[in-house]
Amino acid sequence: MDKLIVTGNGPLNGEVRISGAKNAVLPILMSSLLVDGKLKISNIPHLHDITTTVSLLGQLGVQFQVDERMAIEADASGVNQIRAPYELVKTMRASILVLGPLLTRFGEAEVSLPGGCAIGSRPVNLHIKGLEQMGADIKIEDGYVKAKAARLKGARINMDLVSVTGTENLMMAATLADGTTTIENAAREPEVTDLANCLNAMGAKVTGAGSDVITIEGVKKLHSAEHRAISDRIETGTYLVAGAVTRGRVKCKDTDPTILDAVLGKLREAGANIAVGEDWIELDMKGKRPKAVNIYTAPYPAFPTDMQAQFVLLNAVADGTVTVVETIFENRFMHVQELQRMGADIQLNGNTAIVTGKPSLSGAPVMATDLRASACLALAGLVADSPVTIDRIYHIDRGYDCIEEKLSQLGASIKRVASHVWAREQKKPAA
Ligand code: UD1
Repeated sequence: MDKLIVTGNGPLNGEVRISGAKNAVLPILMSSLLVDGKLKISNIPHLHDITTTVSLLGQLGVQFQVDERMAIEADASGVNQIRAPYELVKTMRASILVLGPLLTRFGEAEVSLPGGCAIGSRPVNLHIKGLEQMGADIKIEDGYVKAKAARLKGARINMDLVSVTGTENLMMAATLADGTTTIENAAREPEVTDLANCLNAMGAKVTGAGSDVITIEGVKKLHSAEHRAISDRIETGTYLVAGAVTRGRVKCKDTDPTILDAVLGKLREAGANIAVGEDWIELDMKGKRPKAVNIYTAPYPAFPTDMQAQFVLLNAVADGTVTVVETIFENRFMHVQELQRMGADIQLNGNTAIVTGKPSLSGAPVMATDLRASACLALAGLVADSPVTIDRIYHIDRGYDCIEEKLSQLGASIKRVASHVWAREQKKPAA
């Protein structure tokens, strides 16, 4: 297993290219199952979760071609399996997104229940309830969701909670249903809108994506299409926070400033100068220490839970005492214990962290526990007074495309070492 070693190296300064959004590309790849034909997707990030999705879809019979610009063409005309096995689903919860497409196109699907997750229980009851409302017969047997429906029927679905993948699963299922489906209290995340745009390019009739009511008029068949995925707003936000905590200047290119309002607002409140163009965002701290900012996570367009860990770190080195309230996932504060080991002053009380900033943190060996927590720890290394060694970095590879290269480009000192090499180096006597 690899480790990352991050050593504070002063303010970051430079430009970084933002990759395609993981959370847009995953459902879009799954949507290829809806077509007896080809779906070509560009702006694909180089991530572990994408490889897992390609393996999963490949097992179902989807064929892939990758062109020289890394665009993926998925051809689901030869799908011959309707079962998504536990071995793959357990490594990536978004695998549940094959349920809606398989069921609506083939009349049958078996998808393993994803099981536990470090950040919270993350049930899929809303996915199941919505499909049942569309007429599916669903049983939970041997740890699998087993669903059948000759043809799904349009329905009015009111989601009890705002769920991103829940909305996406039902939206995909509804594209081939008989009649019109309305999803109320739908997730408004930009990745949901991107999926809707891709489905429409395939001939679906989806309106209202981006609002909390999405309407899908079912059609008999979808057709081949091409789609370019949106840029990753969470990756963008992560590099901007890296600039803020190091009191530096970071320009993110190939990104979309219109889908990051809540995060940019908080960075401005923290004292950052933010400039934006059509496809870039530049943050400049002008050497100043950030001011602490209160954070309250909630569904889009409010502050994203996927940026909470990075802002806990920002507050840990900012000037002031604030609260960070996590309302989406009940256990998404695993980074706090690790930051405490680096000397951060953070008190946890249920879903609230009270953070008092210090000018810097001290280096320590830490452990990545989930995707965004690991990004937070990598950024913590940038502001520690001695090297930070991060263990279990496979989490970071699930969602951050080339993080060492990108941070190095900005001037950070970061390297990846294999565990056995690291262990050998620890045994060497000090020079
Ligand atoms: C997606 C994102 C993830 C992000 C999260 C919240 C992808 C692949 N992942 O995850 O990065 O952190 O949105 O913005 O896009 N819930 C239920 N029952 C359900 C479904 C959800 O109770 O059937 C609850 C969850 O426990 C959670 C809340 O609803 O408390 C939101 O979860 P949801 O939006 O579904 O998260 P994901 O789609 O898994």
